[in-house]
Amino acid sequence: MPRVQEKAKILETHREAEGIHRLVFYAPRIVPTARPGQFVMIRVASEGSDPLLARPFSFHRLHKEDGLFEILLRVVGTGTRILSQRPAGSVLDVVGPLGRGFSLPSGPHETVAFVAGGIGIAPLWALLDELTSKTHRNRPEQLHVFYGARTRAELVPLTPLKRLGVHLVVSTDDGSSGEAGTVLEALRRRYEGGSGLPDRLYACGSLPMQVSLARWASGRNLSVEMSLESMMACGIGACLGCALPAVNPDDPQAERYVHVCQDGPVFDPRRIRWDKIQPIMARPLTFASL
Ligand SMILES: Cc1cc2nc3c(=O)[nH]c(=O)nc-3n(C[C@H](O)[C@H](O)[C@H](O)COP(=O)(O)OP(=O)(O)OC[C@H]3O[C@@H](n4cnc5c(N)ncnc54)[C@H](O)[C@@H]3O)c2cc1C
Ligand code: FES
Repeated sequence: MPRVQEKAKILETHREAEGIHRLVFYAPRIVPTARPGQFVMIRVASEGSDPLLARPFSFHRLHKEDGLFEILLRVVGTGTRILSQRPAGSVLDVVGPLGRGFSLPSGPHETVAFVAGGIGIAPLWALLDELTSKTHRNRPEQLHVFYGARTRAELVPLTPLKRLGVHLVVSTDDGSSGEAGTVLEALRRRYEGGSGLPDRLYACGSLPMQVSLARWASGRNLSVEMSLESMMACGIGACLGCALPAVNPDDPQAERYVHVCQDGPVFDPRRIRWDKIQPIMARPLTFASL
């Protein structure tokens, strides 16, 4: 798919939750070929100033008829802080659409689960928009959305999600909103409590969450796609900095890598060597009990 570099204008900025902001960009050259699961590289700072490198963000929502895309960003460092403070009217260098997006269900007969941990709701929302307007337009209740955050203040507003007509299960680690516990515990309660498994599962969240989910899904007959993260310098396959250890189908012992920016960010988890990723995970294994 064609990749475009464009000066994109921020039309709106919204604070959605604690440390989470939604920005609406006008980018009429990038948006037409963009797909849920793909991402953009946004140069957040002006020429020559810190941070030098562009930062990757998934398409959160796409409004093709208006040439608009939205991102949902969590402030974690310098780049995301600067971007969250950019006022409407700012013009930034954006490259996209990049990477490989989600594949779609074959029809409305498929029951589909979405597992979103924290800011992981960002790319899944674009996919929900697509399914509720296409394959599942008449059966949105077949889409089961599990959305979890650490606490109520970190949940984005739920009304727009509810309006889609999907089956929504909200959870918070501290029990301040929805079911108490992790999003994966909510998923297990639903599907290990007698209800049949979904046909397909899409997920995005912290690396520990993805590791646990990949382990849970591996013994089950499910089609799974996960949007994964990695540190990215270029976003276009030039720096090789986003490599993740992968399964080599020809020789399971041999080393092989996939590049998140080009081979992903959406992957079938069976392609990833989760056992090799776990030791280098920076964050604690919050969901390790699964
Ligand atoms: C394909 C892709 C899509 C993404 N989509 C979104 C999105 O929709 N919304 C969103 O809020 N974030 C998203 N991210 C993560 C986002 O790009 C990083 O949070 C951002 O680049 C951090 O920049 P910074 O300058 O604020 O942080 P830095 O100052 O560079 O780093 C601050 C901290 O964040 C960690 N960090 C930096 N980059 C990443 C990363 N890529 N993954 C995990 N941890 C990181 C660092 O290790 C450090 O601990 C995505 C990342 C990728 C690879
Ligand atoms: S980010 Fe440079 S190769 Fe993937």
